[in-house]
Amino acid sequence: MIKVIKMPEPLIKAINVKKYFPVRMSFIRSLKGEEQKWVKAVDDISIDIYPKEILGLAGESGSGKTTFGRTLIRLIEPTAGSVIYKNVDIFKLKGSELKNYRRKLQIIFQDPYDSINPRLTIRDVVAEGLLVNKLVSKDKVDEAVASALEDVKLTPPEEFINRYPHELSGGQRQRVAIARALVLKPDFIVADEPVSMLDVSIRAEVLNVMLDLKEKYGITFLFITHDLALAKHMSDRIAVMYLGKLVELADSEKLIDNPLHPYTQALIAAIPIPDPTAKKAEVKIKGEIPSPINPPSGCRFHPRCPYVFDRCKVEEPKLKEVEPGHFVACHLYDKP
Ligand SMILES: Nc1ncnc2c1ncn2[C@@H]1O[C@H](COP(=O)(O)OP(=O)(O)OP(=O)(O)O)[C@@H](O)[C@H]1O
Ligand code: SF4
Ligand SMILES: [Mg+2]
Repeated sequence: MIKVIKMPEPLIKAINVKKYFPVRMSFIRSLKGEEQKWVKAVDDISIDIYPKEILGLAGESGSGKTTFGRTLIRLIEPTAGSVIYKNVDIFKLKGSELKNYRRKLQIIFQDPYDSINPRLTIRDVVAEGLLVNKLVSKDKVDEAVASALEDVKLTPPEEFINRYPHELSGGQRQRVAIARALVLKPDFIVADEPVSMLDVSIRAEVLNVMLDLKEKYGITFLFITHDLALAKHMSDRIAVMYLGKLVELADSEKLIDNPLHPYTQALIAAIPIPDPTAKKAEVKIKGEIPSPINPPSGCRFHPRCPYVFDRCKVEEPKLKEVEPGHFVACHLYDKP
């Protein structure tokens, strides 16, 4: 008997999302009528993100992870596509309607030293969104801020509320950034490499706060990282991006233990493992990630792929479900 796994309705449905950045041209070149070039940072990505999941998003530097995360919540304007959230295409919203939806879709940036205004106290940093959105009356602000600080384990909150960001450690600042998002009662948080700037010794406490928030409030996360081992630890599923495209998507364990796309295999082969006798894939990729201004034809990975064959150079592989819940974009898995 075929087992049918019934998935819940997606919280977020990204459909054919594109984000192209214009390449700045010199005045002379534009006078000469040279064609405008584009950085195709995100190039036609469709993915469903389910309620209460942590979806890891991995890939080399420059693969488009940050651009995808920011476009998804409309922190930057999309070039094309749709993002359906609560039956509404948020790419079509304007003005106050957009503001209302945006409040539910938050982001935590990579650098806690850069993303928090150093002139505000922790109370004012965390309260800002509450006040701008008129979510609580002024006399209830301290209570809401204290509760968010408790949720991110900055306790007792009165010890932190009147401090300035420079009086906190990097890990504590990143927890303030999480509290700032949390007071707005978000459904979805894009966490863009939230621990990569932090000392290894304090990463776990920030990551545990995120895992707790998923459990306690059912918040859904897009967890962006370079680090596939960390993605496995944190995520329910992992998506892998290469040069603006999604190349593989599966449950975390499946993706790490049985990667199908040669690019994923190579990323996994590059993870250092503590046990030198452990079995490891032997896939090695050559060279650097090419420019997204003029990406390679066919499969974008073809100039670096050890398994490349003729078809790869001319035909773009589509992302297909090759086993239940396991999607891959590679001609090696096309059934004749
Ligand atoms: N504002 C911008 N204008 C022009 N090009 C941009 C802009 N932002 C990003 N890009 C380009 O888009 C591509 C994808 O960048 P992005 O920052 O999304 O990658 P990433 O996967 O997050 O990389 P990293 O792991 O280094 O953070 C890169 O080639 C980058 O140079
Ligand atoms: S489609 Fe071809 S070039 Fe691309 S990953 Fe698969 S085998 Fe390699
Ligand atoms: Mg990035």
